[in-house]
Amino acid sequence: MNRSSQEQLADRIILLIRTKPNAKFKLEQLAKKLKVTPQQMNSAVKVIKEWGYKINLNKLEVSFQSAPDILSATEISYELKNKLIGRQIHSFNSVKSTNIVANQLADKGAPEGTIVTAEKQTLGKGRLGRSWHSPEKVGIYLSIILRPKFSPDKAPGLSVMSALAVAEALSRYCADSVQIKWPNDVLINGRKVAGVLTELDAEKNKINHVVVGIGINVNQTKKDFPKTIGQTATSVGIESSELINRVDLLKSTLRVFEKEYRGYQKNQLSSSLKRIRKFSSLINKDISVKSGSEVISGKAVDIDKSGSLIILNDSGRKVISSGEVTVLKE
Ligand code: BTN
Repeated sequence: MNRSSQEQLADRIILLIRTKPNAKFKLEQLAKKLKVTPQQMNSAVKVIKEWGYKINLNKLEVSFQSAPDILSATEISYELKNKLIGRQIHSFNSVKSTNIVANQLADKGAPEGTIVTAEKQTLGKGRLGRSWHSPEKVGIYLSIILRPKFSPDKAPGLSVMSALAVAEALSRYCADSVQIKWPNDVLINGRKVAGVLTELDAEKNKINHVVVGIGINVNQTKKDFPKTIGQTATSVGIESSELINRVDLLKSTLRVFEKEYRGYQKNQLSSSLKRIRKFSSLINKDISVKSGSEVISGKAVDIDKSGSLIILNDSGRKVISSGEVTVLKE
């Protein structure tokens, strides 16, 4: 996606004037510094306003007041100190699915850590062939391209790792009510607030790339959810009774994700297990898991360092690497 020179200039002006909020910058001096004409300055300032930035402007001066809550590359990258995750950002207003775009970019060689975001998805994908309801400007729709060096059998744990990253980021908003429903649903007060769809492109012994798709319901109100999920879904805004800044939440998620991914590359989930257990909604519950065509019932007792769920039943200990869980008894 090529940005117009006007948009690039707008970005550079924002970066300069937001260093000192409310301070007045002379337009003439800014133009000189950026080596552009007053006309070019004027059109760029117009773009800045259209994007929703609050600025004070008169004929001679401009000052920065506040940034809009938009998932643009400019906003996401601002003061994000990650080394890997988010080092390239592709942000869109509307796409079919950020996972589709991320897979296309990965096929063309996009580097590890590239992210794709959108304000809206028209064909958002969920797990097991379901759809992900993705209304405009209220949610976070994010895909992260990874190129891990480990073997493909270690990829499934990335879903649990991603759910952990989201759960940790959400804990700052709803401290004690966040849970992970293995493998990759995130719940607040028992309702689903976020989901992870991990897509793997691999050969027998080598991962080409992984796309981790993360959807978070952020500022949806109850009426924004379709009837089919109205009883089971929620948003961070509903649960915290606050309007959430999506850019802040997205950046927190990217920061935690980078930290967790570095740990995962070293020793899978070993150093995260304590936190995963703390967040788990299933441990010590009687459950049944549908894994492929098999259904296994028993008591969920643990999650291991590969991200598998450990179940105990009359025939012993079962290790399940993926599946769909139903809780039988609370
Ligand atoms: C699930 O819980 O079923 C997984 C939902 C994953 C949704 C996200 S939104 C961003 C990314 N793009 C998609 O099409 N899906 C994932």
